Amino acid sequence: MTTPNKTAPPPARVAMIQTGQALMSLRDSGYDLSAAIAEVVDNSIEANANNISIDLIEGDGKKHITSIVFVDDGAGMDPSVLQHYLVLGYSTRWMRTDTIGKYGVGAKLAALNFATKIDVWSRQAADAPWLHVGFDLVKSKAAEEAGEENPFGIDPPAPRDLPPEATMHAPKGAGTVVLWSAIDRLQHGRFASDANQLTIEVQKEVSRIFREFIDGGIRISVNGTALAAHDPLYKMKGTWADVLLTKADPEKLRGGGTKHYAPQVIADREPIPLKGGKAYLTVVLYPEEVTRRRGLGGDELAKRLRLPENEGAISFMRSRREIAYTNVPRIFPRGVSEPDRFIGIEVAFSPDLDDYFGVRNVKRGVEPHGELRDKIRAKLTTYIPTARKLLENRWGKAAQKEQVHAGEHAAITEAVKEVGHVLPKGTPQPADDKKRRDAYEQLAKDTGHAENQKEKDEYIGRIKDLPFVLESVDYPGKMFIDIQIIDRQVIIRVNTRHRFYQELWKPLQELSKMDPGAVSGDDAVKAARRSVEGLSLMLIAYGKAVAMEENGPEIHEDLTAYWGQFIDTLMGKVKGVI
Ligand SMILES: Nc1ncnc2c1ncn2[C@@H]1O[C@H](COP(=O)(O)OP(=O)(O)O)[C@@H](O)[C@H]1O
Ligand SMILES: [Mg+2]
Repeated sequence: MTTPNKTAPPPARVAMIQTGQALMSLRDSGYDLSAAIAEVVDNSIEANANNISIDLIEGDGKKHITSIVFVDDGAGMDPSVLQHYLVLGYSTRWMRTDTIGKYGVGAKLAALNFATKIDVWSRQAADAPWLHVGFDLVKSKAAEEAGEENPFGIDPPAPRDLPPEATMHAPKGAGTVVLWSAIDRLQHGRFASDANQLTIEVQKEVSRIFREFIDGGIRISVNGTALAAHDPLYKMKGTWADVLLTKADPEKLRGGGTKHYAPQVIADREPIPLKGGKAYLTVVLYPEEVTRRRGLGGDELAKRLRLPENEGAISFMRSRREIAYTNVPRIFPRGVSEPDRFIGIEVAFSPDLDDYFGVRNVKRGVEPHGELRDKIRAKLTTYIPTARKLLENRWGKAAQKEQVHAGEHAAITEAVKEVGHVLPKGTPQPADDKKRRDAYEQLAKDTGHAENQKEKDEYIGRIKDLPFVLESVDYPGKMFIDIQIIDRQVIIRVNTRHRFYQELWKPLQELSKMDPGAVSGDDAVKAARRSVEGLSLMLIAYGKAVAMEENGPEIHEDLTAYWGQFIDTLMGKVKGVI
C-alpha cells in the first residue's frame, strides 16, 4: 500500500479477473473424479448421444492416470459453439430448467480440477471434417506472465485428426471427442491406491449416477466395459445386482439369462409438495435374496452389491441424473444403524426445485433445506421404521427356519447339562442299543437333521450325552409337549403348531433376537402382556389337567412338588445364556 499522492493521476481501472490466477484457484472446485467425468457425460447425453465411451489412460508407466478421453456419437457442435466450449460461463442452455447443464462452467471446471490441458473435436455430420479447439493452462499462464496479448484466447476451430486414444470408439457420423491431458492431480494415494482401483471406482459411480439413462438404453462404457446400471432402489431390471444375484442363485434360470430380484416397495414416488413443484420419495426394502439372514450385511456378496455404502444413503435424482448419493445428517429417525444398508431411498426432483436442494454449479452434493428437509424427514419418520420392522420380521422368520433345524434350544440345553448332575437321579428307563438308536433316528427326522447320513450322525453325536434334550418340532394335534425318557436322558419335544408356541414363545424368541432400536415400545409391551397372560393360562390349564385325574389330585403331588423345585434350581443356576 502506498500513501495517496495528491498530485498523481487517478488510478486506471483494473480488470476484475486476473485470469491466470483465477483459473488456478478454480481448479479446486471440489470435484471428485467421478463427478468430474459425469459433467462430460452430461453434455454427451444432452447432445442425444447413444454411445458414450470413457477411457482412463495410464501414461507415465507408474500406474498413474495421465489422460482421459471421452467419445460420444451425439449431435456435435457447430464451429461457433465449439469455439465457445472452453469459454467459462458459456452455455447454449444457460439457466434453463429443462436441461441437466445450465451454468456453462461444468465442462471446464471439471477438466481443470484434474488436468491442465483440454482438447475438443467435434463434427455434425459424417462427411464433415473433425474440427478442433484446445486450451493449455500452463502455456496460457506462461504467455500471460510474458505479457503476451490475450493469452487466454481460444482460436477458431481448425480441422485436425482425432487423437489415437479416440480412434477406437470414433463415431461414424456426428459426435464429440474430449481429451483431458497433462493430468497432474491423480497421483498415487491421493484418490485411490492405483489406476486400476480408480477405474473401478469410476465404473461404480458412473453406473449409479447415470442408471436411468443406461436403463433407457444409452450405452456408457469405461475402459471398454459397458456399464450395467447400478440401482440402489433395486427397481430396474438387468442391473449389476441382478447379474450378481443370478450368479449366486442356487436356482439359476435354466438356459441362462438374468433374473430380476424385486424389492419390497414401501413408498413409491410419494409426492412431496413444495411451492413451485413436487419432489418424489421412494423407499424400498431390498429383496430377500439380498437381506438373507441377519449378520450378512458385510460379507463378500454384500460388498459386491455395495451394501455398506448404502447405509443411511439417500440418492438424489435431478432430471433423472443422480447428483448426490449421501447421508443427510439427522434425517433418519433414531439415527442410522447397520440394517439400514438394506433400505433404498430416492428423492427425485426437477431443476425447478434447485433452490430447495441447494444445487450448486458444481453438480455434486445437495443440501435439502427448510421446508423440503422437514418434509422428507417427516415421511422418513414413518417409512424407515416400517422398513426396519419388515426387515426384522424377515430376519426373525429366517432365524426361525434355521433354528427349528439347528436346535433352537441349543444354548439352554448346553447350559442345563451341568445342572443335570446336581438334580436327583430319577427312575431310569432302560433302553437297549436298538431302542436308543430308533429313538434318536426319529428325533433326527423330527428336527430336520436326517437329510443325509453325515448330518444325522453329527446330530446324534451332539445330543446323545446330554441329560436333557429340548427340541421344537412341527407335528399336528393339540399336544403341547411330548416327553420321552431313554435311560436317564430326558427328551422333550415342543410342538411348534401349538398356540402357546405360536402366540407366546415364538414372538418372544423373535423379539429377543431383535436390534433394540428396531423394536417399538408398543410391541415390547404387547409381547410382555401376552406372555404374562400365557403363563397364567398355562398354570390354570395345568391345574385343570390335574383335576381331570380320575384317581384324585393327590397322585400328582410329587409331580407338582418336583416340578416346582426343579424350576427353582434351574432358574437359579442358568442365567443369561440367551
Ligand atoms: N458432447 C457435446 N456435444 C455437443 N455439445 C456439447 C458437448 N459438450 C458441450 N457441449 C456444448 O458446450 C456448452 C458448454 O458446456 P458446459 O460447460 O458443460 O455447460 P452447460 O452444460 O452448463 O451448458 C454446452 O452448453 C453445449 O452447447
Ligand atoms: Mg455441462
